[in-house]
Amino acid sequence: MKLWEGMTDGVTDPCAESFNSSVSFDKRLYKQDITGSIVHAQMLCKCGIINEDDAELITHGLSGIMTDIETGALIPDPSCEDIHTFIEQTLTSRIGEAGKRLHTARSRNDQVAQDLRLWCVDEIDRICGLLKDLIYKTAEKALQYADAIMPGFTHLQPAQPVTFGHHLTAYAMMFERDIDRLTDCRKRTNVAVIGSCALAGTTYRTDRAYEAGLLFADGVCKNSIDGVSDRDFVIELLSCLSVIMMHLSRFSEEMILWTSGQFSFVKLPDAYTTGSSIMPQKKNPDMAELCRGKTGRVYGDLFAVLTMMKGLPLAYNKDMQEDKESLFDAADTVCACLGIFAKMVCGMTADTEKMGEAACRGFINATDLADYLVRQGLPFREAYKLCGGIVSYCIKNGKTLESLSLEEYKTFSPVFDDGVYDAIDLKNCVYRRISEGGTSPSTVGKNAVYLMKKYK
Ligand code: ARG
Repeated sequence: MKLWEGMTDGVTDPCAESFNSSVSFDKRLYKQDITGSIVHAQMLCKCGIINEDDAELITHGLSGIMTDIETGALIPDPSCEDIHTFIEQTLTSRIGEAGKRLHTARSRNDQVAQDLRLWCVDEIDRICGLLKDLIYKTAEKALQYADAIMPGFTHLQPAQPVTFGHHLTAYAMMFERDIDRLTDCRKRTNVAVIGSCALAGTTYRTDRAYEAGLLFADGVCKNSIDGVSDRDFVIELLSCLSVIMMHLSRFSEEMILWTSGQFSFVKLPDAYTTGSSIMPQKKNPDMAELCRGKTGRVYGDLFAVLTMMKGLPLAYNKDMQEDKESLFDAADTVCACLGIFAKMVCGMTADTEKMGEAACRGFINATDLADYLVRQGLPFREAYKLCGGIVSYCIKNGKTLESLSLEEYKTFSPVFDDGVYDAIDLKNCVYRRISEGGTSPSTVGKNAVYLMKKYK
């Protein structure tokens, strides 16, 4: 039978039915759907649209459905079009007539938008909790290594000495902004769109503000077409999640570099590394690599929804059913990565000796040599040029800035005195960088303690 023939006599082809159904994935919205429906029944009752007996039956019936889904006694039926239909049909089959009154003054269009908003708000709170834990653990490590000197890099070339604690705190600050972004996104997400109905609002005397209050919403959407049309809140959350993954992937990349034989700055606990099937010496940073790899997947989720929404006419279109799998996938991925990452950071140890040795190579105190010359009266540009010459002299002669004699220094400029050694001492280079946000152990320690207190 042709599909259109089936449609003309009101029978849907089973293939079309299963193609159309979203239960297999939107069953995750059952809690939000039931909560929203209980609140909706309360509002209908308060406004005199349904009577108290019906409201009571609906509330009781929905609570029972919630419990049964949670215990596994009731399994969402994949042959239903979506979770909203499944819950409403189950309710009616359990409580009869009253169940049929629940869908007054609403539509699945505002219902799904509301459910999804509630889901996003819960998820934002969960992800912020995971970020807080990661910040705490990163700050704790930063405090432990507040005075561990390592080479800081630009272009992945040794640049200036920094402390490992300083480097770690940089990530903690990024995660802190991730929380800020999510908190901001939450405000725009936690809005009541229920009552927008199909698209035009309703002729019933509803009380949207009352319903919003029961949903703990931060506001009521002011345009019913907007309420059912947009999924910008999904896109905004996916953007926040993408930024989190971008941060995690950079941290991952550094973990991978730092644990490599060439660097050997960091050791990861065995519990978060894997071995090779043929190379017995291997300890691979798989967790970090997976976090780096999964970043592409979350970006893909963002782009899937952005592209799906592009050019859609207002108001609801079935295309929008496609928002959920991407959203769920991205949120699950971020939660899994944040969880494993916090454990990995907690168990990581730094080889401060190796870091210190690496800091002695690469002339990372050349800036400090130039700054010293500035203090001796040279203009910075001139000092910079002179230092460039000294570094190439060292490279040619297999020397370091520390091993040059004062006589050798004096051949470059008469302003050199033995204060130069104090100026280029790596420890001094780090300890004297007391500018706000700089790498000095005292600044790093202060920042780490601040973060640990805030995110305890
Ligand atoms: N399952 C649909 C979705 O996720 C729910 C809304 C359906 N509305 C409709 N008019 N077909 O978007």
